[in-house]
Amino acid sequence: MGQANEGAPTLVIREATEADWPRIWPFFSAIVAAGETYAYPEDLTLETARPLWMDGHVVVATDGTTVLGTAKMGPNRPGRGAHIANASFMVDPAHQGRGVGRALGRYAVEWARRAGYHAMQFNAVVETNTTAVALWRSLGFEILATVPEAFNHPVHGLVGLHIMYQRLAPEARDPSEPAPLAQP
Ligand SMILES: CC(C)(COP(=O)(O)OP(=O)(O)OC[C@H]1O[C@@H](n2cnc3c(N)ncnc32)[C@H](O)[C@@H]1OP(=O)(O)O)[C@@H](O)C(=O)NCCC(=O)NCCS
Repeated sequence: MGQANEGAPTLVIREATEADWPRIWPFFSAIVAAGETYAYPEDLTLETARPLWMDGHVVVATDGTTVLGTAKMGPNRPGRGAHIANASFMVDPAHQGRGVGRALGRYAVEWARRAGYHAMQFNAVVETNTTAVALWRSLGFEILATVPEAFNHPVHGLVGLHIMYQRLAPEARDPSEPAPLAQP
């Protein structure tokens, strides 16, 4: 659990429960329907969307009564890719621009660092989502590459998807040095 947004009403980030999902769903579905930031299937329902979001470490940002936003995080790939974390974020459009997304982003990076992930990667940040791109950059992410014309934006047509990345491990190993011995 964490606090953020000094000077504003208290913002609490806590682990989501199943009871939170019906409170997430209205803005989840609005953001997906807007079609500008995520490539989820367009025919999702309260029930079919639930396992897509309520999976891994899921948190909500609340002001004590209202769910303002949510984030989910966990391994980006299974098995041998599981040391790289991934995260996704949605803030209720009615509550965007108040620091909720920044607080959730900070939380996710700190969560991944504490969990021992080597890095955090966002696989598909829509290049026209300039608010998100600037926010993730300000939290230490860089754009590794942009997959051209990978997202069919309802206004801008085919636009790129950025792969954004931040190393979390404390220091890079010199490749000329012998690899550390595996821990028993
Ligand atoms: C991207 C998103 C998570 C950001 O959440 P948010 O609560 O609106 O963001 P914050 O209020 O913390 O603002 C973060 C920064 O973006 C800026 N910002 C927020 N909304 C903005 C807007 N509409 N236009 C321009 N800048 C904006 C803020 O000024 C802030 O910058 P600052 O801290 O330097 O002042 C949220 O807009 C969202 O859920 N969007 C739809 C889904 C999405 O895009 N998810 C991320 C996919 S990668």
